[in-house]
Amino acid sequence: MEKEAYFYDGKPMIIRKNISLKPFNTFGLDYKAATLICTTTERDAKQLFRSEAGLNQPLLILGGGSNILFTEDFRGTILSPCFLNIRVDKLEKEHVIVSAGAGVEWDSFVEWCVAMGFSGIENLSGIPGSVGAVPVQNIGAYGVEAKETIVKVRCISIPEGRVKLFSNKECGFGYRTSIFKTTLKGQYIITRVYFRLGLKFIPRLGYGSLKQEAEGSGKPTLKRVRNAVLKIRNSKLPDPEVTGNAGSFFKNPVVSGSFADILKKDYPGLPLYEDTSGGIKVAAGWLIEQCGWKGKRIGDAGVHSHQALVLVNHGRASGMEIYKLSEKIRESVKKKFGINLEREVEVTGII
Ligand code: EPU
Repeated sequence: MEKEAYFYDGKPMIIRKNISLKPFNTFGLDYKAATLICTTTERDAKQLFRSEAGLNQPLLILGGGSNILFTEDFRGTILSPCFLNIRVDKLEKEHVIVSAGAGVEWDSFVEWCVAMGFSGIENLSGIPGSVGAVPVQNIGAYGVEAKETIVKVRCISIPEGRVKLFSNKECGFGYRTSIFKTTLKGQYIITRVYFRLGLKFIPRLGYGSLKQEAEGSGKPTLKRVRNAVLKIRNSKLPDPEVTGNAGSFFKNPVVSGSFADILKKDYPGLPLYEDTSGGIKVAAGWLIEQCGWKGKRIGDAGVHSHQALVLVNHGRASGMEIYKLSEKIRESVKKKFGINLEREVEVTGII
């Protein structure tokens, strides 16, 4: 393997050529990237954009690789932001502003906040990926979304290398989306995310069995809620260290109230939730299960046996096999329910 390391600012910027992506995607797919660059300081990233240092196109910014499906070798440059520190920026009366570098592992950050007694993101425990990916996806779980605590997002523009701060409003957050995934896709690299967290703990236990689980061993504390979330996740979702996956492969579709009424009449068991957009959110996992896909596999590409919304790599599946399975699932759901499933996972190489 060809290796290069450049040193700017006294800190290493690591450049690897023709490198395996296996450790860089949670599906565990063994494709290669022509170039992978890891920058440890904002200054390096700026210099990189301004220089000719091997930035061959296309350019892909990769967080923890927990929401991506590669279907072929990546012929361009993958940039992995390794900005790693966590700090307390400001103390307010009942809140604290805490920020983390984009390369910090999200769950280590949540663990640290829980240990410090800072509340607001404990329901988002156990989600794989890095802090930089959190605003892109507006990650959510157990009744909480990241947008509720994100105050601002610090970015560098590509290719000018200018710093820009996006306020919460400017991020255009929606269900598993933001401006970084839509209109500004590929135009900024996120370097730091700022959160406003509570110094007083108000548990958010409205989702499914969370209340029961968190109260099982006494009065819910931050730590108990985190442990309860981790326990529920472990019972439903596969550990990417053991079985390759990228969490929910599809979004829960949002339909109109009138269409939801028709669906409910035909399928009384269908779980439906009010969506903030005014529409009705349909449980995609239920739709996929009803189409008979839960636990099924085609070769090594499969549907998780405890949560049909999650596609898994049982070992040697290719990205294309997982993609083809996902398309078959979409076709069945469309045929049976008349609903188009939208992917949550980003697929590279097919379109
Ligand atoms: N369901 C089924 N069969 C299945 C899966 C789900 O019938 O195979 C039913 C469940 O019984 C429940 C409903 O569907 O009534 C919702 O299921 P669940 O609570 O597991 O949540 P989800 O809507 O399938 C979403 C997120 C998850 C997040 C959970 C918990 C999306 C796309 N997914 O899943 O996020 O962990 O809620 O809050 O919104 C992720 O984004 O990668 C992810 C894992």
